[in-house]
Amino acid sequence: MRKVAVVVGSLRRESINLRFAKALARLAEGRMVFDLVDLSDVPLYNDDLWQQPPAGVLRLKRELDAADAVLFVTPEYNRSIPAVTKNVVDWGSRPYGQNSWAGKPAAIVGTSPGAIGTAVAQAQLRSILVGCGVRLLGQPEVYFQTKAGLIADDFSIADDKTRAFLAGFIAKFADHIERVAARSSTP
Ligand SMILES: Cc1cc2nc3c(=O)[nH]c(=O)nc-3n(C[C@H](O)[C@H](O)[C@H](O)COP(=O)(O)O)c2cc1C
Repeated sequence: MRKVAVVVGSLRRESINLRFAKALARLAEGRMVFDLVDLSDVPLYNDDLWQQPPAGVLRLKRELDAADAVLFVTPEYNRSIPAVTKNVVDWGSRPYGQNSWAGKPAAIVGTSPGAIGTAVAQAQLRSILVGCGVRLLGQPEVYFQTKAGLIADDFSIADDKTRAFLAGFIAKFADHIERVAARSSTP
C-alpha cells in the first residue's frame, strides 16, 4: 500500500485542519496509509542549521523522502499559507541538490470556517509547489468549509454528499500516485 506523508500546516492541538486530515486518513483506509508528519520540533528555516542539522529536520527529510506521496492540509492565514506550511516546503527543498519534492506526487486540501475554505492559500501553495518540482493532482479541488458536526468524534464524515465527494478525492489521489509512479518507472 502507498505511504502518504501528511503535512498539516497548523501546530494547534485543536486544529480543524488536523481533524480534517484524520477524516481523510479514515476515508483512505485500505487504499493508502496516511502518516502524519510531526512538525513540533522543526525550527524556522535557517541555512546555517545544515552545518549541524536538528533532529526534527532530519526526521522531516527522512519521512518526506520515504513517502510515496505527500498530502498538504493547509490552513489559510491572511489570504496566504501559514508560516508552518511554507517552512516545511523550504526545509524539504534543501540542501541544494537534495530536493525532497522533485517528482513527488502530491495533493493540496485545506479547511477554514470561511466560505471559500482556504482557496486563496491553496492557489498560492500550488504555484510554490509546482516551482519545487512537485507533481500535483489538479482535480478535484477540495475547499472544505468547517461546520459544527460535519466531522464526527470518530473522524467519520457525517454528511453523505460530503463523504462521497471526499471519497472521490481520495480515489483520484490514489490514481494520481499510481500514474506518477508508472511514468517515473518507464525507461
Ligand atoms: C493569523 C490568522 C489569519 C487568518 N486568516 C484567515 C484567512 O485569510 N482566511 C480564512 O479563511 N481564515 C483565516 N483565519 C482563520 C483560520 O481559518 C482559523 O483560525 C482556522 O481554525 C485555522 O486552522 P487550524 O484550526 O487548522 O489551525 C486566520 C487565522 C489566523 C490565526
